[in-house]
Amino acid sequence: MEHLLAPSILAADFANLERDIHMVNASTADWFHLDVMDGVFVPNISFGMPVIKSIAKHATKPLDVHLMIVDPDRYLTVFADLGANVLTVHAEACTHLHRTLGQIRSLGMKAGVALNPHTPVASLSDVVDEIDLVCLMSVNPGFGGQKFIERTYQKTTDMRNLLDAANSKAHIEIDGGVGVGNWKALVNAGADVLVAGSSTFNAVDPHAAIIEMKGRSR
Ligand code: DX5
Ligand code: ZN
Repeated sequence: MEHLLAPSILAADFANLERDIHMVNASTADWFHLDVMDGVFVPNISFGMPVIKSIAKHATKPLDVHLMIVDPDRYLTVFADLGANVLTVHAEACTHLHRTLGQIRSLGMKAGVALNPHTPVASLSDVVDEIDLVCLMSVNPGFGGQKFIERTYQKTTDMRNLLDAANSKAHIEIDGGVGVGNWKALVNAGADVLVAGSSTFNAVDPHAAIIEMKGRSR
């Protein structure tokens, strides 16, 4: 299956957001990846609802919202109203993950769950039927531009095997340190959504970087 590319707006120029959004609209990238950080679950604060509202006005591709916040249940309806298509919560931030995922779906969004690098894939084995996307963190969340954790290849394959065994068609998204040097190995390991922040927006030619990470043969 063809993989999807989701440029992370965290690496965009926040003083030129409209320009950067139009760049992604006009590119062969598939989703907008939007990182919401609260300074509690992760040691950084990014952006929140007003910024996403402005992005949604210009974006012509699905919004893939990654919540790095404690107790995300408080805001599920808010992000649905903002136009999120995929809403991803962290397993480590949810006391009642099964219920949270059900609520995301009942609000009409795809239900995503993210795992920090230390969280085993097996922690999702009892909620596999409630999941539309698993986001495997390939860095410790909180910042763009970090070094990719190599263990993620094995974790991706393990996650794909777990999903296949349960007849799940859930996406596997890889988030952190993805670029032109490792995207192909990640797809081969079983990933089908790649988040690319720095490798998109810090590239000399972002369009070319996107085409490269979408695969030249297509
Ligand atoms: C990290 C965020 C990522 C980040 C990735 O906490 O979840 O989405 O934007 O940035 P890069 O692609 O630069 O590693
Ligand atoms: Zn992210």
